Amino acid sequence: MSDITRTASWQKLQSHYARIKDEHLRDMFQQDPKRAATFALEFEDLLLDYSKNRINAETMTLLCELAREAGLEKAIGEMFSGKAINETEKRAVLHVALRNRSNRPIMVDGEDVMPGVNAVLKRMADFCEQVRSGSWLGYSGKPIRNVVNIGIGGSDLGPKMACEALKPFCCKNLNVLFVSNVDGFHLADTLSALDPAETMFIVASKTFTTQETMTNAMSARDWTLKAFGSKAAIARHFVAVSTNQDDVAAFGIDTRNMFEFWDWVGGRYSMCSAIGLPIMLAIGPAHFTAMLDGFHAMDEHFRTTPLEQNMPVLMGLLGVWYNNFFAAQSYAILPYDQAMHRFAAHLQQVDMESNGKSTSKDGTPVAWQTGPVIWGEPGTNSQHSFFQLLHQGTKLIPGDFIGFCKSQTPIGDHHQKLMANFVAQTEAMAFGKTTAAVKAEEPGISDALAAQKTFDGNRPTNTLLADELTPRMLGILMALYEHKIFTQGVIWNVYSFDQWGVQLGKVLAKNILKDLTAGKKAELKHDCSTNAIIQRLRNRM
Ligand code: F6P
Repeated sequence: MSDITRTASWQKLQSHYARIKDEHLRDMFQQDPKRAATFALEFEDLLLDYSKNRINAETMTLLCELAREAGLEKAIGEMFSGKAINETEKRAVLHVALRNRSNRPIMVDGEDVMPGVNAVLKRMADFCEQVRSGSWLGYSGKPIRNVVNIGIGGSDLGPKMACEALKPFCCKNLNVLFVSNVDGFHLADTLSALDPAETMFIVASKTFTTQETMTNAMSARDWTLKAFGSKAAIARHFVAVSTNQDDVAAFGIDTRNMFEFWDWVGGRYSMCSAIGLPIMLAIGPAHFTAMLDGFHAMDEHFRTTPLEQNMPVLMGLLGVWYNNFFAAQSYAILPYDQAMHRFAAHLQQVDMESNGKSTSKDGTPVAWQTGPVIWGEPGTNSQHSFFQLLHQGTKLIPGDFIGFCKSQTPIGDHHQKLMANFVAQTEAMAFGKTTAAVKAEEPGISDALAAQKTFDGNRPTNTLLADELTPRMLGILMALYEHKIFTQGVIWNVYSFDQWGVQLGKVLAKNILKDLTAGKKAELKHDCSTNAIIQRLRNRM
């Protein structure tokens, strides 16, 4: 199955698409008053209502057939078994082991990884208890009040997203901050209000070689040394999270203060590993464990549930439906929860770094569309920025509306208003407003103005509605998206767990840094545009 478009189910889906592509959600709902119940799924208290999609029962049958033809069931089994499915890097893909709360043995190279996973979790919890209780003292004897996580990409986005989403669960005495950008402003701005005596740094990098992280870490080290005048301070103010013990030691961090993880954990899938240390510091070991429990519950659902009732699978297949048949280019993530304001940013990396590929597993170029552009912002802010285009633009942009029945921070009727908007938007997207309805409301309106006020509708959305944003629910939601992305990667026949596309820019940046610092007269050997930009920088920096 190297060419998915040649499978029988794909061909059937193409003819099916030609038949139903113009059907309107208005008619579908009118014809079937039970549609909302038919196209819905519940997992714990999380409801997925996918009835406002341009589908019928046959669409879902054919999409599940496609998943079977693509070998999804076998692929799921292989990932969970520890097989080296990341073939281009010859690695297993076992983020599911990090939250395997059942402790079922998971073998890599003949060895069960679970004792190692549990040992690191225990060390993390002990460390967090010390810092949170104030018994871990800085070099001058003061307890730690600020923790600055220095990392980028997967070593930043997931932990930062979770710390924001779970703010009501965070320890009030500990300020957990994140520095990722090599732009000096990020570090300087973050440190400007902090006292070195009360500040600890987590240097979080799987490889411990990433330019941005190592540069920020070195500057943070200088800031600390300047404050204390002794290298002995580093051991009290720096810990590392990495797979690279040698480079951690070379940096000067005591490896007893290093929390390890393993090469079978992809950076963007690492928030349940020691990369989650800032989360555990912020919310505490018990809440962190509850988050892992949520991840695990969804992992088990994904591993054991038939495709037709499998939430990540269905969401993945609906994404394929729009991406490959309706030619939708992008996908919106729209949480109606301000605390989830970094959720889309994190999913951008998880999704786009995983499935933003154009070479199929056999090395040939794909002849079909792969990962969509993922983007989004919380409601209701997004309604006042880009929703105009979602409602009346020329592009079809499917999206997920994510909301919670209960507020984390109830004030007056804020939450009722928030959720009224949440519901109104998907209703408007699906059903729009006909010209006849506009004219009935405004008798005498000109045809031209009525056309401006007409909404076509038929814009597909999923509604994800849970009771409350708890650590467990955040875990459930994250695992849901991780496995949605896995499902799509299998169908598109790409390697979802490497990221070769990021390497070229990294290598070129290193060379250009040499050019930038080589002196104004040093020869430049790039194209004329690149040479001129470098020269301008040399002259004016
Ligand atoms: O952006 C590329 C990447 O390799 C990501 O996959 C990763 O999350 C990020 O860089 C950071 O890498 P590291 O944790 O090794 O510093």
